[in-house]
Formats: sequence, C-alpha cells, structure tokens
Amino acid sequence: MEGYNAQEILNCYDLTAKEYADKFLNELDGKPFDRNILDRFTQLLPNGSVVYDFGCGSGQTTKYLFDKKVHKIIGLDFSENSIRLASRNFPEITFIVDDMLNSKMASNSVEGIIAFYSIVHFTYTEVEKAFKEWWRLLETGAFCLFSFHIGEGSVEISDFLGVKGANAVWRLLEMDKILTIAEKVGFTISEAIIRYPYKGVEHETKRGYITLKKSYDSRKE
Ligand SMILES: C[S@@+](CC[C@H](N)C(=O)[O-])C[C@H]1O[C@@H](n2cnc3c(N)ncnc32)[C@H](O)[C@@H]1O
Repeated sequence: MEGYNAQEILNCYDLTAKEYADKFLNELDGKPFDRNILDRFTQLLPNGSVVYDFGCGSGQTTKYLFDKKVHKIIGLDFSENSIRLASRNFPEITFIVDDMLNSKMASNSVEGIIAFYSIVHFTYTEVEKAFKEWWRLLETGAFCLFSFHIGEGSVEISDFLGVKGANAVWRLLEMDKILTIAEKVGFTISEAIIRYPYKGVEHETKRGYITLKKSYDSRKE
C-alpha cells in the first residue's frame, strides 16, 4: 500500500470501464455543488478556451462542460477502455488516451484544466508531479479545478464495482498539504473548499475542491 502503483490503477479502470460508466455517468444530477463549481469555473475562462478534463473516466464532467457550449473541452485518461467507451457514448466530444503524470499534450496549450477525483490514487509525490505537468500545459493566466477525498491514509479496494481482479488503493488527502504543494509548484490559490458528502449519492468522505491559477510563467523570469 506504500507507493502509487500505476499499472494496478490502469488495470482497475480498464477492467471496470463499463461498470464505472453505468454507475457514474449521471452522477452530477445528484451533486448540485459540483455542477455549480463547474459552472463558476467556466466563467473564469474566456469564451472559446481549450479545457482538458484529466482523468475524465466515463466523461460525465466532460459532457457537462461540453453542453455549456462555451469552451472546447477535451477528455483525457490513461485508461484506453474508458476513453473508448466515453468516445462511443459522446461521439461529439474529443477524447484522448494520455497520462497526466507524463502528458503528450503540448506546453502552454490550454486555458483550463479540470480533474475531478483523478488524483485520488496518488500519494503526495504524484500530486506534485501532476501539478508540475498541469503547470507546463497551462497558459499564463489559466486556471485548473480539481477535487479529491479529504482525510488521511488510504483505503484498499479489491474487485472494485464487483469486477474480479479490479484492485486499487484510494488515498485520502489533506487540504493543507495539497495547498502547500500547489504553492510550491508556483500556483496561486484561487479558491479552496471542503464540503460534506451527499448522503446516499456518494461515498461518505468529505470532499476537497481547489481552483488554482497560473499567475505567471516561471520560464520568463
Ligand atoms: C476516480 S476516477 C474519476 C473519473 C472521473 N473524473 C469522475 O469524476 O468520475 C479516476 C480516473 O483517473 C484516471 N487516472 C488515474 N491516474 C491517471 C493518470 N496518471 N493519467 C490519466 N488518468 C489517470 C483513471 O483511469 C480514472 O478514470
């Protein structure tokens, strides 16, 4: 349970792509806070901005933002099966297989990044690595918004969603530690919120939502 096991996580989401979509595709219907914070995020960006949805999974947040028809949203995930299914469910949206810890996307290529519950398997080491990648990808003045489970320690789940062999470790993360890492990487904290879970709708952990701004470009200094 010590480090981040990328292969195990990838295998878990490849195996459960269908079950994940079946369970979570319409989950935003029961999460008004999440819809609201996504709406507010879109208002931070100029119309027509390119936005990456990292760890998009079945693509429910990608579809939500796509339907706003304000920005060009692209869904990215390292699970090929999840991306294949998302592309089938939402053929009007671009989905790309990509690893957010070592992205093939170009530097300074986006005005916005969202990542809903995509860092939930990372230790603080990978969180820092992801923030560095997001920093590289974002244009100066751009924003990212991400969410995670609040807490300490980890939870090991075997046969996730009832699928044999789909095993993964979920990490609970502390808000203050995440904010410290974000500032170390160079981001300005725009907003940080902890909310209680929606009972009966989602797993009963408190949830963290952070909006970061890349206020300057360190390479130009
Ligand atoms: C808990 S799911 C969240 C999916 C979706 N964003 C949601 O809100 O339901 C975590 C997602 O992150 C993806 N993921 C984990 N590590 C990744 C990495 N290094 N690069 C890209 N995607 C990753 C997984 O494949 C999975 O789809």
